[in-house]
Amino acid sequence: MAPQISPSILSADFARLADEVARVADSADWVHVDVMDNHFVPNLTLGLPVVQALLDHSALPLDCHLMIEDPDRWAPQYAEAGAKSVTIHAEAAKAPIRTLRAIRAAGARAGLGINPATPVDGFEDILGEIDMLLLMTVEPGFGGQRFLDVVLPKIRRARELIKGRDLPVWLQVDGGVSAETIERCAEAGADVFVAGSAVYGADDPAEAVRRLRALAEEATAKADW
Ligand code: DX5
Ligand code: ZN
Repeated sequence: MAPQISPSILSADFARLADEVARVADSADWVHVDVMDNHFVPNLTLGLPVVQALLDHSALPLDCHLMIEDPDRWAPQYAEAGAKSVTIHAEAAKAPIRTLRAIRAAGARAGLGINPATPVDGFEDILGEIDMLLLMTVEPGFGGQRFLDVVLPKIRRARELIKGRDLPVWLQVDGGVSAETIERCAEAGADVFVAGSAVYGADDPAEAVRRLRALAEEATAKADW
């Protein structure tokens, strides 16, 4: 699959979310929405009512990243509301397979996210239950953190596992993804790139998305996976 770019509105102006999404509508593939509950992560952002409001104003599909406790209870509602991709965290889900199936049944792509210190190997057998594997490349909770190079071997291993199973699972990276780091991620096997501060911290967010895409495409063309 060609690389996809999913700008995170965590670094956008929260008082003008619809306008901020519109700035990348022609250049991005998705809008990444970080839902944080101040329990799973030490930060509080937004929830279902804001996502519902945004759905009415976004020309791009929403990629909802739930950094919350009890995703089993909440995740299906994001899919039912109309989010096209809903990602839950493996560290928080008590019944991940049931919840991933409920997300799919509601018509969305089902994502499973893992934190930097969570090994990917234990998830090999459930790859068939997911549409996207999200590898956090920072500890979740805040934008603008430094990319953790230590996750690169895990990106490689995840790509090998997906290839080995011959499944159409997308591999997303989130955290510290920028013009400086995106090529390393693509080379290692990622194909969906979340970027918050690298897009919304730029003077021209659309141009930043195009630049990231070009770098990812070039690195993917040279990659051996
Ligand atoms: C962090 C969030 C990210 C965040 C990334 O926990 O999941 O989506 O917005 O921000 P940057 O790209 O600035 O690291
Ligand atoms: Zn995120």
